[in-house]
Amino acid sequence: MKVALTGIKPTGIPHIGNYLGAIKPALELSQTCEARYFIADYHALNSCKDPDEIRRMTLEIAAAWLASGLDPQKVLFYKQSLVPQTFELLTMLLAFTPKGLMNRAHAYKAILQANGESGRDPDDGVNMGLFTYPVLMAADILLFDTDFVPVGNDQFQHVEMAVDIAQTFNFTYGKECFKLPQPIATEHSKTLVGLDGRKMSKSYGNTIPMFASEKELRKLVMRIVTNSQSVEEPKDPETCTIFSLYRNFAAPEQVEALRQRYLAGGMGWGHAKQELFEAMNAQLKPLRGRYNDLMASPRAILDALEEGSAKARALAETKIKALREIIGVD
Ligand code: TRP
Repeated sequence: MKVALTGIKPTGIPHIGNYLGAIKPALELSQTCEARYFIADYHALNSCKDPDEIRRMTLEIAAAWLASGLDPQKVLFYKQSLVPQTFELLTMLLAFTPKGLMNRAHAYKAILQANGESGRDPDDGVNMGLFTYPVLMAADILLFDTDFVPVGNDQFQHVEMAVDIAQTFNFTYGKECFKLPQPIATEHSKTLVGLDGRKMSKSYGNTIPMFASEKELRKLVMRIVTNSQSVEEPKDPETCTIFSLYRNFAAPEQVEALRQRYLAGGMGWGHAKQELFEAMNAQLKPLRGRYNDLMASPRAILDALEEGSAKARALAETKIKALREIIGVD
């Protein structure tokens, strides 16, 4: 069976963009692949120096995956920091990573550019963890003989860098020390829109949290920005934020029924929002219940992660032993 692996950075509260764009597709993939999904807590350290925040986010993200249906008996579910072989592999890979490759990383380049535009030193705020971020990610991926990496489009370049590094390593020792991973797009071709009609993103502050209470969820849905068309006017489903979100939560025949109501006219935005709220709530309610139960006794979450990490360490140790021998540090 093919191995699918992905890392989840514990930053920001999980929102429905994370759910539809990462969690749900990864769980679907776990039906047909041997799945290895982990919390990338050392990746969060580059930007977060608050220990309580890292702990809290780790728990919340782990609970979000478990509440969404991840079965830790079927999916290898672990915490990066509990698999120290990752960091030994990182050290090995650094010796095979040209600095110029890191210079080309989009995320790093974006910071350089922003610094330049605001007249700061180009490397202002860039720590070496951030600069070498793609190498740590390569270590995560290559350590587990990964075939597929389900990720958002913004992570494709990182996976391609992992391939580059793996190829250099394989070429150096003249054998297939690492499998070459392949990124798999998890996002829909149509990007998910947020409350204000722009792409749903933490940085725009337009997200809908996955586990908002029923009351909060209703309030957020009612806040969705619409145009000022009257109730009577026919409406265009294709340019409507409400409709675009509805598509992700309602069954195809419900979507078609709402489309007809848009086109016919006589339906106000309030009605459309009510339909959306009900469809979202129907899907999120059971998840919310499981999430609240899990967060009420976090010990079970930590146990799941520790158990998974012990299994991950065993796999990782076999791999790292072989690698030590290949490079001559055994
Ligand atoms: N960089 C990814 C993100 O920000 C998280 C991540 C870390 C990851 N290690 C990984 C994803 C390995 C896939 C594979 O979303």
